[in-house]
Amino acid sequence: MRLPHIGTPRRRSLGSLGSLRGGWALAALVACLAALVGAPSAHAADPPLRDLADAKGKVIGTAVTGSKLTGTYGEIAGAQFNWLTPGNAMKWGSVEPTRGSFDWAEADQIVDFAEAHGQEVRGHTLVWHSQNPNWLANGTWTPAQLSQLMNDHIALEVGRYKGRVAAWDVVNEPFNEDGSYRQTLWYNGLGVDYIAQALTAARAADPAAELYINDYNVEGVNAKSTALYNLVRDLKARGVPIDGVGLQAHLILGQVPSTMQQNIQRFADLGLDVAITELDIRMQLPADSAKLTQQAADYKAVMNACLAVSRCTGATVWGFTDSDSWIPDTFPGQGAATPYDENYQPKPAYRAIHEALGGTTTPPTGACTAAYSVTSQWDTGFTGQVRIACSGAALSSWKADWTFGAGQRITQAWNATCTQSGATVRCSNASYNGTVPDGGSVTFGFNGSWSGSNPVPMVTLG
Ligand code: XIL
Repeated sequence: MRLPHIGTPRRRSLGSLGSLRGGWALAALVACLAALVGAPSAHAADPPLRDLADAKGKVIGTAVTGSKLTGTYGEIAGAQFNWLTPGNAMKWGSVEPTRGSFDWAEADQIVDFAEAHGQEVRGHTLVWHSQNPNWLANGTWTPAQLSQLMNDHIALEVGRYKGRVAAWDVVNEPFNEDGSYRQTLWYNGLGVDYIAQALTAARAADPAAELYINDYNVEGVNAKSTALYNLVRDLKARGVPIDGVGLQAHLILGQVPSTMQQNIQRFADLGLDVAITELDIRMQLPADSAKLTQQAADYKAVMNACLAVSRCTGATVWGFTDSDSWIPDTFPGQGAATPYDENYQPKPAYRAIHEALGGTTTPPTGACTAAYSVTSQWDTGFTGQVRIACSGAALSSWKADWTFGAGQRITQAWNATCTQSGATVRCSNASYNGTVPDGGSVTFGFNGSWSGSNPVPMVTLG
């Protein structure tokens, strides 16, 4: 895993957009459990997603949970993504659970993390029908009170992060599927004007922040996206501050709308930016290789639809790992929706995003690969090996890196020098086995400790 970037927080210029704003008890067997080839997808020379996206002036973001931003989760979030969205931390119910008493801890933590890693933040979300505090949702309010509450909330939250949050999902999910307005606290109390009011308040609180309306099932051309289109067209015509639309893109396997690019283009033609804000592609569990292959194709289709339109700023995934996805809780029986599996191993979908962003699409003709296997395992320990084999290529020295997904620790190694720091392991050749000739192989071994599960990591050869 690449170390996080340490960089100066910067205001992203959104490409050429011209925008103003910028496991198991093993019976004693010696079987190879899961030889995982260090495929090109995990080659050390692969740039992280964010470098590819930066080179294109595009966003590759992820929703994050503040409490998880350490260890492997934090390493990947920092190394692979150039934008972060707090998955829940900035919602009204999170920041003001009791009227007048605020909790900014997780939101602050995420913004600090982003700045320490040279990342931009997408604020999510200010005005929504869901995840509001009970005092607000269950209160009885006059229109004047509601308006005041909404405006004060926006002024406070946007003001707090002024200059530090690059874009806000000001209004979230205002429409029903048929394109009518959703009956919410806000719509019922203030009428459709709540949207213009919210945008205006957000602009006043941070004139440099990009202001978005965000919704789901608006990825293709349909009644709902057309209602959104008509709304933002009218808002723009009236001079109401609006910079872009967010297409959440909570998609179902094999169902990327064929009209996605066309839909993005029509919003762009209004002079608005378009962001894919909550991308995930769910499937019926269990996942299998056919589904994961389809999912990769789907991710690529979404990326390509966005990248084909210059005003599409890029994509944010709604959690980068299946261990941090909302899908299994919300859609029982479904999951595996993100680019990394539950053990932080990249899935074919990761590769698809990488390729769409311009990463190498074809494996080199000659290659050296590393295969990790557990050769025996007992209650608390295991023996593993890594076999490095070359075909059409050769090595004069080697390093094999991997990240343990479940707290495993190396206790002893042979035929290599291994060091472990946190979850990250690096093994280098011994003085006598650095050379791996074309058509040859070298194997080294190690003992380790484990508990709970002992998933096989992906090895990167350097
Ligand atoms: C989801 C979060 O990921 C969950 O942790 C939470 O329990 C419910 O909300 N559309 C949105 C997001 O705009 O805020 C939602 O996030 C997913 C759907």
